[in-house]
Amino acid sequence: MYKPVEINKGLFYVGVNDRSKELFENLWPLPKGVSYNSYLIRDEKVALVDTVDIAYTDVFLKKLDVVLDGRSIDYLVINHMEPDHSGALLFLLNKYPNIQLVGSVRTADMLEGFYNITSNIKVVKEGEELSLGKNTLKFFMTPMVHWPETMMTYVKETKTVFAGDAFGTFGTLDGGVTDSQLNPDVYWDEMVRYYSNIVGKYGSPVQKALRKLADVEIETICPTHGPVWTEKENIEKVIGLYDKMSKYEADKGLVIAYGSMYGNTEQLAEAIASEAAACGVKNIVMHNLSKSHLSYVIQDIYKYKALIIGSPTYDSKLYPAVQSLVSALENKNLKNRYFGYFGGHSWAGTSVRLLGDFADKMQFEIVCNPIDMKQSLKEDVYQKAMTLGSNMAKKILSDDEVVPNKTTDCQ
Ligand code: FEO
Repeated sequence: MYKPVEINKGLFYVGVNDRSKELFENLWPLPKGVSYNSYLIRDEKVALVDTVDIAYTDVFLKKLDVVLDGRSIDYLVINHMEPDHSGALLFLLNKYPNIQLVGSVRTADMLEGFYNITSNIKVVKEGEELSLGKNTLKFFMTPMVHWPETMMTYVKETKTVFAGDAFGTFGTLDGGVTDSQLNPDVYWDEMVRYYSNIVGKYGSPVQKALRKLADVEIETICPTHGPVWTEKENIEKVIGLYDKMSKYEADKGLVIAYGSMYGNTEQLAEAIASEAAACGVKNIVMHNLSKSHLSYVIQDIYKYKALIIGSPTYDSKLYPAVQSLVSALENKNLKNRYFGYFGGHSWAGTSVRLLGDFADKMQFEIVCNPIDMKQSLKEDVYQKAMTLGSNMAKKILSDDEVVPNKTTDCQ
């Protein structure tokens, strides 16, 4: 049994909640689960927008039965081919074999690659329209938000945008579906974690997509994950968040991410954090990289403008957990950060040099000379930690812009 959820006239939510999966993309923890959103527009013609993960096909088809109320489906608009949204496709076509698939030229290629589907595909181009009767769909190509085939679909009459992964969040839809039926505060942090880990590499394509959306009026955002955004203040907030994150802008605050085998490097991290706090920085997040899952570290690094990384030397390299973070940030092309770094070693140090190479590659602004600690925290190193902490605090509390490749003299 299922009571249809009508978002606006003729537009129904037919998505599902996943509270079982541990790791999204087999990588990212889902402590609050995730929803796979699908939408049905019931007009003279019936259009379904995206499907759901294959594991939830049964629930999905049952919901469709109820909402269709005996009608069939004319079109499946495929905004995104990733299997969390296309997984139910073959089962859907088995039940409704006459559905015409609507997508970009890259979608057509992926339909063959993933599902051996080569017929009854309508390839649409930028700005093309498709009338359903009272609703007119207009298609915007938004490649790399989050795959190359992705597009967004806009309904002109209801000012509704089906945004694919954009403006999505982790977290299931518990009871309600729209932001007016839920407490949106539950989702903001998960939106940052979702964006930074899943879409975060594609800042420039996200900016292009936002410029396209700036030309249309939006009253409802239907993403593929998380709440449907209908309230003006929330629509402004989610678009603002995406705009900010895709420009790699961030709030005043400091992330100190470190590895430490026996606690010596950690003591250095504590000293730096303590001095930054004493100098007035309130938003300080410390991550022991052996314990914090990388997705939360990346989330905080996207949230705050300053970053300090510390690493022991391990097998003449960075500590493995630190190497994972550094590689992830390189891969995401993270930009515009104040940066500091420190290392610890017992007999031969290379971690500081390697972190310096990383800073150069990322074109971060280095706020102070790095600290290299041999064996344990002594007075001279402690004083350097005070200097790094206070220099970083000055930077964070100033309104300066990040100057790439600049190294500030320590004071
Ligand atoms: Fe939710 Fe990129 O798939």
